[in-house]
Amino acid sequence: MSNVDDHAGTRRDFLYYATAGAGAVAAGAAGWTLVNQMNPSADVQALSSIQVDVSGVQPGSQLTVKWLGKPVFIRRRTPEEIEAGRAVDLGELIDQGAENANKPDEPATDENRTMDEAGEWLVMIGVCTHLGCVPIGDGAGDFGGWFCPCHGSHYDTAGRIRRGPAPQNLHIPVAEFVNETTIKLG
Ligand code: FES
Repeated sequence: MSNVDDHAGTRRDFLYYATAGAGAVAAGAAGWTLVNQMNPSADVQALSSIQVDVSGVQPGSQLTVKWLGKPVFIRRRTPEEIEAGRAVDLGELIDQGAENANKPDEPATDENRTMDEAGEWLVMIGVCTHLGCVPIGDGAGDFGGWFCPCHGSHYDTAGRIRRGPAPQNLHIPVAEFVNETTIKLG
C-alpha cells in the first residue's frame, strides 16, 4: 500500500512541476517576439525538459513519468539490486554498451548505468529495444529487473538485456539531479 501512496504523492508533485513550467512560459510571453528572433528553439527547449520530484520514491519502488511521449522509469534500487547489477561480468552481456546518453561510448557496467555513485538511482526510457513495448518492472523476469512480455525479453536490475530478442539495453536519457530530491530529464 505504501508504494501506491508514494506513487500518488509523487504524481502530484510531478503535476505541480508541469504546471509551474507552463506558468513560466506564460509569464515570458510578453517578451516573446524579441526572444523568438533571438532564439527560435526556446519553446522547444522548455518542452523537452522536465523536473521530477523523487522525494517520495522509496528503495525498491519505481516511478513512471511520461516525457516526450514516452514512459521513463525512475527506480530507486535496493542494496540487493545494486549488488546483483554490480556482480555481473561484462562478458555475460548481450549489449556491452552503457546506452547512457550521459556517458556515450562507455561500457555497460552497473556503475555506468546509474545516476549516483552509490548506484541507488536508475533512470531509463521505458521502451523495449526490440519492438517498443513497455516492459514490466519491479523485479520482473528471470534477472530480477524488467520483463517485456511481447516477445520475452528479460532485463536485469540495471536494465541490461540478458535474454530474448531485444538487441540493446534499455536506453538512459539525459538526466541529472538538480538537488537532492529532484531529477531533471533533458
Ligand atoms: S517488444 Fe519487447 S520483446 Fe519484443
